[in-house]
Amino acid sequence: MKRIIFLLTLLLTASLATVRAKTLVVYYSYTGNCKAITNALSDLVAADVLEIQPAEKGLRYEANGYALGTKLLNAINANPDDAASYPAIDPVSVSLNDYRNIIVVTPLWWSQMAAPMQTFLFNYGAQMAGKNVGLIVSSASSGISGVEADCKRLVPDGNYYSKSLWIRSSQVGSAATLVSGWLQQIGFTDSDNTSDTMKIRVSDGTNTVIYELNETSAAKSLYQMLPLQVTVENYGNNEKIFYPPTAVSYGSDCIEGDCPAGTLALFSPWGNVVMYYGAASRYSGLYILGKATQGAANISRLSGTIRVETEEDTTAIHSTKADKPGDASRGYVLNGMTAAEGCRGIIVRGGKKILAK
Ligand SMILES: Cc1cc2nc3c(=O)[nH]c(=O)nc-3n(C[C@H](O)[C@H](O)[C@H](O)COP(=O)(O)O)c2cc1C
Repeated sequence: MKRIIFLLTLLLTASLATVRAKTLVVYYSYTGNCKAITNALSDLVAADVLEIQPAEKGLRYEANGYALGTKLLNAINANPDDAASYPAIDPVSVSLNDYRNIIVVTPLWWSQMAAPMQTFLFNYGAQMAGKNVGLIVSSASSGISGVEADCKRLVPDGNYYSKSLWIRSSQVGSAATLVSGWLQQIGFTDSDNTSDTMKIRVSDGTNTVIYELNETSAAKSLYQMLPLQVTVENYGNNEKIFYPPTAVSYGSDCIEGDCPAGTLALFSPWGNVVMYYGAASRYSGLYILGKATQGAANISRLSGTIRVETEEDTTAIHSTKADKPGDASRGYVLNGMTAAEGCRGIIVRGGKKILAK
């Protein structure tokens, strides 16, 4: 009697991508207007809210003809690349990785972004690359283009909503209406806020890697063409690469950056997807698609034909192994019994897992 022992790794909870709170609202408010605007916004959008607070308490930025506010901005303008130019803020505990959309609500000071919010963005702007970024600015009367410029300087790789929202101090009482109109204008929908994380599985049958993709157009394009069966190739001493049968499309939202081991990227000049098992530096046209969340140590072992599929397509069995190759014509249920004719569910045939519908 044929006996086949299957060693199965069941990751039952990992089979479905998780739904998360997707929006972070980060605000600073000196006299309460931006706080009121943030309250109106969070009544309309399910979001986590983070308040920025200056480390030095009790300061009066408007005293002596706004002398202190002016001094803080002058220091930033004189040396915008130096962390020491920015006023200290209270430490914040936030993982920007968890968010897809970040809405910044800030006062305008002397036609610029209020200094404490600049500090936050100076510290966290790089982590906001590829995120959808919305900007709401409150001023007494001055136009907000200087604040928009500050935001783009501090968050150069944000994927900005097409229009910022300007709310004058005199309009704060109508913030709910103004914010709601703006959300419609920029096309911010519930699906922006609730869609699933894109997770993919890359496997040669023995070695498996799970990647979480980012929200860029290139990552979405790759995700939409799955499942793929392709040949994995060696490149250099730190990459495994494959060529999707059709070109991965990409837009101006794509992110260039250093690629630590575990990064998944698109090398757009050649059209190949790169799986890094050793670190690589930023390179023009090398767009980050995501990072390995499980099995990063397996990347360097991938060989031959690989299957690239969405995590949802799979059975949640991450590996199967047989001590003798199974009879290709016969299937087995997971406890090793022969699968009955017409059996439905997950079976194993020829050493491979199959979903029998
Ligand atoms: C230091 C400082 C400078 C300001 N500069 C300007 C300005 O140049 N133009 C303007 O229209 N309002 C200016 N304002 C007013 C604020 O932008 C406005 O009152 C805003 O609504 C305040 O938001 P907040 O209540 O959330 O702090 C300034 C306020 C402060 C404290």
